[in-house]
Amino acid sequence: MFPTERPRRLRRTAALRQLVAETTLAPDDLVAPLFVAEALSAPKPILSLPGHFQHTLDSLSSEVARLHRAGVGGVILFGVPESKDEHGSGAFDPNGIAQVALRRLRDEYGDELVVMADLCLDEYTSHGHCGVLRADGSVDNDATLDLYARTAVAQAHAGAAVVAPSGMMDGQVGAIRRALDDSGFTETVIMAYAAKYASGLYGPFREAVGVEIAGGGNRRGYQQDYRNRRESWREARLDVEEGADIIMVKPAMTYLDVVADLAEQLDVPISAYHVSGEYAMVKAASENGWIDGSAVALEQLTAIRRAGADFILTYFAGEIAETLNS
Ligand code: PBG
Repeated sequence: MFPTERPRRLRRTAALRQLVAETTLAPDDLVAPLFVAEALSAPKPILSLPGHFQHTLDSLSSEVARLHRAGVGGVILFGVPESKDEHGSGAFDPNGIAQVALRRLRDEYGDELVVMADLCLDEYTSHGHCGVLRADGSVDNDATLDLYARTAVAQAHAGAAVVAPSGMMDGQVGAIRRALDDSGFTETVIMAYAAKYASGLYGPFREAVGVEIAGGGNRRGYQQDYRNRRESWREARLDVEEGADIIMVKPAMTYLDVVADLAEQLDVPISAYHVSGEYAMVKAASENGWIDGSAVALEQLTAIRRAGADFILTYFAGEIAETLNS
């Protein structure tokens, strides 16, 4: 007896496969994370993120021009300050490096490109935590909210169309929404890092922004425990109730169940962050000739879309956008 159902019929030619494909991946589904450093005379390569740099204002501007030409959907900026302090005041200083860079991109692109700002204190604090500390070294949630609110207003004022709180403090989205509205920034979008796990995959990022958590510490007191799935539903629900416009899951590949859950449960756009360690793993294996890096990147990014993400933050944005265009 031969089979009557033959799924292979639809796989016979590239044209048939293209016709029935369920998932698409386009340059404008990708957002490029970019690092801009204060007091740098030339762009500085980030060794653990091959192809990426701590940028000067000028090299940032030319990299954004390349990304814009390739049709990427947006960029998200991370500032690397020259000096840090206990309160991370560079994050909300109107002349802090992120704000200076945001103003420059606003002048160059206006509303033609979606410019996002990561909103956190860790790049700016001397102790490397995402919030301010109490005397016992623990992160003070509510004192941190005031500083996030100030940072959001500084970023919006400098031209960020989207602010993206990544610190995992309770109530951060509500505090930021109120501060933005009170300052007249009712149109500024909040993309909440809602389901953000305490992950080993952020290693290269910490090199990229020069963050070392004091005393060999970690973020398990505020980022989520990777053993938990339903906890993400709660985090995302709270963020939507507090006014988040977009919900993000981070990292991506090890949390596709969470992406799929939230895409089904919520009626706001979902994004996922394919993080530094995910990029570095693909690059390292590829540089050893063990995998075809571009093929694996395409497979991973498509899988994240298939799970339900509307768009993806990824260090592959420029490279894969150019591949998709060619
Ligand atoms: C916090 C922040 C981190 C990342 C984005 N925002 C680091 C952390 O939580 O320790 C990680 C991104 C990546 O690994 O690519 N400001």
